[in-house]
Amino acid sequence: MKKVYVDLAERKYPIMIGQGVVATAGPLLKSLEFTQAPIVVSNARVWRLHGSTLMRSLQQEYGRVPVIHIGDGERYKNHSTLMKIYRGMFRAHADRGSWVLAFGGGVVGDIAGFAAATFMRGIPCVMAPTTLLSQVDSSIGGKVGINVAEGKNLIGAFHQPAAVLTDPEVLKTLPKRELVSGLQEIIKSAAIRSKSLLRYLERNLPAILACESQQMEHIVGEAAKIKAEVVSLDEKEGGLRTILNFGHTIGHAFETATDYRRFKHGEAVAWGMIAALEYGKELGTMDSGEADRLAQLVHRTGRLPSLQGISLRDLWSALARDKKFLAGDIRMVLLRNPGEAEIQSRIDPVSLKRFLKSFLSANTAGRT
Ligand SMILES: NC(=O)c1ccc[n+]([C@@H]2O[C@H](COP(=O)([O-])OP(=O)(O)OC[C@H]3O[C@@H](n4cnc5c(N)ncnc54)[C@H](O)[C@@H]3O)[C@@H](O)[C@H]2O)c1
Ligand SMILES: [Zn+2]
Repeated sequence: MKKVYVDLAERKYPIMIGQGVVATAGPLLKSLEFTQAPIVVSNARVWRLHGSTLMRSLQQEYGRVPVIHIGDGERYKNHSTLMKIYRGMFRAHADRGSWVLAFGGGVVGDIAGFAAATFMRGIPCVMAPTTLLSQVDSSIGGKVGINVAEGKNLIGAFHQPAAVLTDPEVLKTLPKRELVSGLQEIIKSAAIRSKSLLRYLERNLPAILACESQQMEHIVGEAAKIKAEVVSLDEKEGGLRTILNFGHTIGHAFETATDYRRFKHGEAVAWGMIAALEYGKELGTMDSGEADRLAQLVHRTGRLPSLQGISLRDLWSALARDKKFLAGDIRMVLLRNPGEAEIQSRIDPVSLKRFLKSFLSANTAGRT
């Protein structure tokens, strides 16, 4: 088992990564000095697949363990689900000494984490992420929250987990699209911070797409390390943490322009990275051979949903709605080299718009 620390002074916490972490969660948590039984939050799908493995281990250490099930999917990351979690906690007689164990993907982690952040002004939360995206991204860094009608993740908090238990074994039951979507975030992390992980991904892609244990454990560990390091250096996104948004500015615009229906988040980020690489070539910030090589890796992960039918106008208005983007100085994360990001400021909107127009037409031409 690998242990990676998120180094935040008195809020420092371990990420324990390895096959069998879920099956040994009980003793592991006891060794981390969680003496009282957790309140588990999960959903029916994850529970059907992996709940009994987790529960067997928890019950051996803690006896009876209450479980709160929430609905499956982004649309349940809302206020009424949050209320359901609070009520479940009261019913389980939770108090200031209780703690939450979030067992599921990013939706479960974000909302269970927010419930923990706010229940009696805050109790600890341990994340046990079960999707690739949540293992390398959402479970690390303490951003928790819910969606409201006005937008996604607009209500939330920073509440660092007390620990993260990451078991790559559970990824074997993930649908292929979810796996590939999470993989895009790993490519992103490698692209901004680790040339050696990029080269590993290139060499081992077939084994990764087949979800082979050894390779998954390696890339999950390396990507978790990158996120942990960036978060340790800039917890509240004052500067460095922004580089985690590589591919996300344009990626988010693709998601918004298609009403969040066409792309999984990672798929939109994949297109966003390809666009950012092309744009970097145009601005001359990155060697074009290296940019093409990286775009090639993204394409090799599988066929992405097409950009067909997305108009420049929709894309631009989606970007314009992103307040961070158009607040005077347009900034974008670009690469200088593979494994090395830079924040490019004072981007000229006219040139960016012209670029997007040609990017859309180049990537939709001849396709139906
Ligand atoms: N907090 C952060 O820093 C942060 C970062 C990125 C994303 N997010 C959030 O994460 C959420 C997306 O997370 P996600 O991609 O994990 O989606 P998700 O939680 O909806 O999970 C995707 C699907 O996979 C299922 N699933 C989970 N584990 C499984 C397993 N082992 N086997 C089979 N199926 C499994 C889920 O039930 C769900 O149907 C979004 O709400 C997003 O806003 C948060
Ligand atoms: Zn992302």
